[in-house]
Amino acid sequence: MSGSIEVRRLTTPQDLFQAAADEFIRSAAEAVQKRGRFTVALSGGSTPRNLFTLIAANAGNLPWSQMFFFWGDERHVPPTDPDSNYRMANESLLSKVAVPATNIFPVPAELPDAAAAAARYEQTLRKFFATDPGEVPRFDLILLGMGPDGHTASLFPETAALQEKSKLVVDNWVEKLGTSRITFTLPLLNAAGEVVFLVSGTDKAPALHEVLEGSGPTEKYPSKLVKPTDGQSIWFVDRAAASLL
Ligand code: 6PG
Repeated sequence: MSGSIEVRRLTTPQDLFQAAADEFIRSAAEAVQKRGRFTVALSGGSTPRNLFTLIAANAGNLPWSQMFFFWGDERHVPPTDPDSNYRMANESLLSKVAVPATNIFPVPAELPDAAAAAARYEQTLRKFFATDPGEVPRFDLILLGMGPDGHTASLFPETAALQEKSKLVVDNWVEKLGTSRITFTLPLLNAAGEVVFLVSGTDKAPALHEVLEGSGPTEKYPSKLVKPTDGQSIWFVDRAAASLL
């Protein structure tokens, strides 16, 4: 099966979060039923907080002990930092559900060297998925957001990580932020069984139009480069974000 792209248009942000929560729960239940476990990489930023809160409130009967949590990207900060994607997910979801701590795999972003943190996380993934050399782990679900500049995960426009073709996780210097991020690479993102994008708000409308309908250079809109080779992409967008489609 080649990759498929689906756009689900919702009216309000709350409609979007509810629809995405329903898809998360569906995907998790299906994965556990078919494969005995659910592997998911969470996104960061602010949008997912509302999704995670909804999942925590609506998914009490999910098989949490068979669900395994990772992060598609992380800021180069300790897990206690207000900017930490792990901290946000732990506060809004993981601390509220019965997922065992051994099922949660934060990026070791507290390490002073971002490249070492990325390399260690890659080893964590390879060990967990028991991949052969050269094999790319296949997540059941990868959640992603999109910035107003078209970035996703920490793959920012015209940054070095966009060129990575063999590593699974890299440190990526982001000049405009003046910081390194730790991020999944395109080979890992595009090996997923399912990618779900959450895009909400007027400020995302120009980039969303370019990503879904434009013919501009993909380097300037990295989200255009995420198309699972043998999986599906579902874009959950609200009316404001979709206003230029
Ligand atoms: C991060 C995210 C990043 C995020 C976008 C959109 O670490 O910030 O992983 O890729 O998804 O910046 O963020 P919002 O959805 O909060 O606008």
